[in-house]
Amino acid sequence: MELMLAGKRIGIIGLRTIGTALAQGLLESGLATPEQLSGSTAHLESARAKGELLGIQVLTDNRALVKGADVVILAVKPKTVPKVLSEIGELLTSQQLLISVAAATPTRLIEARLAQPVPVVRAMPNTPCRIGQGMTALCAGAYAGEEHLELARAIFSPVGRVALVEDEELMDAVTALSGSGPAYAYIIIESLAEGGVKMGLPRKLATELAAQALLGGAALVLASGEHPALLKDDVTTPAGVTIDGLIALEEGGLRVALIKAVMAATERGKALSDGHLR
Ligand SMILES: NC(=O)c1ccc[n+]([C@@H]2O[C@H](COP(=O)([O-])OP(=O)(O)OC[C@H]3O[C@@H](n4cnc5c(N)ncnc54)[C@H](OP(=O)(O)O)[C@@H]3O)[C@@H](O)[C@H]2O)c1
Repeated sequence: MELMLAGKRIGIIGLRTIGTALAQGLLESGLATPEQLSGSTAHLESARAKGELLGIQVLTDNRALVKGADVVILAVKPKTVPKVLSEIGELLTSQQLLISVAAATPTRLIEARLAQPVPVVRAMPNTPCRIGQGMTALCAGAYAGEEHLELARAIFSPVGRVALVEDEELMDAVTALSGSGPAYAYIIIESLAEGGVKMGLPRKLATELAAQALLGGAALVLASGEHPALLKDDVTTPAGVTIDGLIALEEGGLRVALIKAVMAATERGKALSDGHLR
C-alpha cells in the first residue's frame, strides 16, 4: 500500500465528513505525508479551519488543486458535482485518477463532463470511516483499470474495509445498504436502548449494551464467515429468553422493514442517478 501511494499527490475536493475522514486516515496511517495531501472547500473559513485541523494545504481554488495532483478525490454533494466538473473537467488528463464518492452519480455522467478519457473510480464509503471502521465499495469507470482500482483501494484501506463491485448498476444497492446502513444501525441501537430503559436500565448503560451487542454480533459475522442465521441459533436456547424476543421482532415485521429500507433507498438512488446530472 505504502509503495502504491509513494510520491503520489492527492487532492481532495470537499472536506466535510468523508473528505476529512479520508485525509485523516491517510495521514494517521502514515500512507501519505502532509506534503502529498491537499484539499479544497467552498468557503475561505472552512479552508482555514480544515488546513489547521489536518496540517495540509487547503485551497478554495479547485483548478489549482487539480493541476498539482496525481489523484483527485471528489467529495462534494452530488448536486455540486456538475459545478465542480465544469471548473476542472478541461484540466484533468488521462495521467490522473479521479475518484468520486458522490452518491447516485454514475461514472459515465462524470466522464461525459471531462475533456479527455480520464480514469474514474466510483467509491461508496460510509461515516464509520471517521474512526477507521468504514466500508467502501469501489467500481471502475470506462477508462479505469486494475491499477486504478488498486490505487483507490490503497487510499480507502486506512479508513476501513474495501470491496470491489464489478457491475456499476449495483452501486445504488451498495449505497442503500452500506452507505445508508449506519443510519439503520443507529435506529436499531436507539430502539434496543429504549427497550432497556423501559425495563429499568439507565439510558447510558442501555445504549452501551445495545451498541456493543450490534458491534460484537457484526464482528462475529465477519470473523467467522458463518451465516447470520446459524449465529442467531447459537444465541437462541430452546425455551430460553431470546426466542420470545425474536417472536416479538417477527410480529413487528423487523425483517421486512429492513428489506424494504434497502429497496426504497436503492430506488431513490436510481431515480437520482437518472435525473440529477441531466
Ligand atoms: N455522509 C455520508 O454518509 C456519505 C457516505 C458516502 C458517500 N457520501 C458522499 O460524499 C460526498 C460528501 O459528503 P459529506 O457528507 O462528506 O459532505 P458534504 O456535506 O456534502 O460536504 C461538502 C463539502 O464540499 C465542499 N464544497 C462545496 N462546494 C464546493 C466547491 N464548489 N468546491 C470545493 N469544495 C466544495 C464544502 O465546503 P464548505 O465546508 O466550505 O462548505 C464541504 O467541505 C457526497 O457526494 C455524498 O453523497 C457521503
